[in-house]
Amino acid sequence: MSYRRRSFDGGRGGGRGGGRGRSFGGGRGGRGGGRGGRGGGRGRSFGGRGGGRGFGGRGGRGGRGGRGGFRKRGQGGMQGGSRAIIEPHRHKAIYIARTNKDDALLTLNIVQGSEVYGEKKIVVEKGEEKIEYRVWNPYRSKLGAAILCGVKNIWIQPGTKLLYLGAASGTTVSHCSDIVGKEGVVYAVEFAPRCGRDLIQVAKTRTNIVPIVEDARHPHKYRMLVDMVDTVFADVAQPDQARIIALNCHNFLKAGGNFLISIKASCIDSTLDPEIIFAGETQKLQKEGLIPKEKIGLKPYEKNHQFIVGEYRPSKRKTTDN
Ligand SMILES: C[S@@+](CC[C@H](N)C(=O)[O-])C[C@H]1O[C@@H](n2cnc3c(N)ncnc32)[C@H](O)[C@@H]1O
Repeated sequence: MSYRRRSFDGGRGGGRGGGRGRSFGGGRGGRGGGRGGRGGGRGRSFGGRGGGRGFGGRGGRGGRGGRGGFRKRGQGGMQGGSRAIIEPHRHKAIYIARTNKDDALLTLNIVQGSEVYGEKKIVVEKGEEKIEYRVWNPYRSKLGAAILCGVKNIWIQPGTKLLYLGAASGTTVSHCSDIVGKEGVVYAVEFAPRCGRDLIQVAKTRTNIVPIVEDARHPHKYRMLVDMVDTVFADVAQPDQARIIALNCHNFLKAGGNFLISIKASCIDSTLDPEIIFAGETQKLQKEGLIPKEKIGLKPYEKNHQFIVGEYRPSKRKTTDN
């Protein structure tokens, strides 16, 4: 199934940033000055297709008032005015927009007309119906980066009950909310009060998000809010994150359920070789019954990160891919 893009919605500003080559911006914009986005991965391929189109950087923080925009070629932005073909990604409820210039990762916006973090939108018309997609910026989301880096399974699909640790202001959580849809739920845990306030705002319109402003080290504090879940994702960037995800899996993840964790080496120990850290974290997870099945790096989107996907207390029953 493919659609011709009708229009890019919300094309204001976007400031500096983004990289060289063909790339996609779409960042925060808004705050004046500051650094430009991270580079757009010259010649790096998108979505495993090969061919050298890449995403640009974060969109930079320069350029007051900008919400991030599709920038000119060579400045790291997807170009407005061109046609896009929307194709389903192999992961369910995720899409790719392909234009002759740029590619972008998308989710279907379950709250039409809304935006969460200044992301771009693509609206297509199919007969009388208008369909709106939200562009997912891999520089702002470890999960988005993992998908573009070719992770085989994310265990998040329509209907999934997901426990998300380290929700921040709801950037990635909002895309998970699009993916799990009305039949699914995202329990989103965040302990920083300011981020927690943003998260609560996001959950006001996205009713499949349950915002929980608590420390994920104390799952008993939100036990009454969370059902047993299919998948646990942790992006807390803490030295004790293996313990944090394990505690939550013991409380809320069914045996044979799946977990995902993004490990930033420097959060564990900035003096050690990242590979040693990743091996150590793997051991900690295994001791708790969290068995890694897949490990990938997140370059070019993040340096010295490892993204691990695994199964919790695997049963002998054969599992199927999502
Ligand atoms: C790397 S950011 C997460 C970014 C987010 N996952 C996204 O993609 O939009 C890590 C977040 O985890 C939160 N965090 C760290 N430790 C936590 C804990 N023990 N309990 C709850 N949240 C925590 C931080 O406040 C921060 O917002």
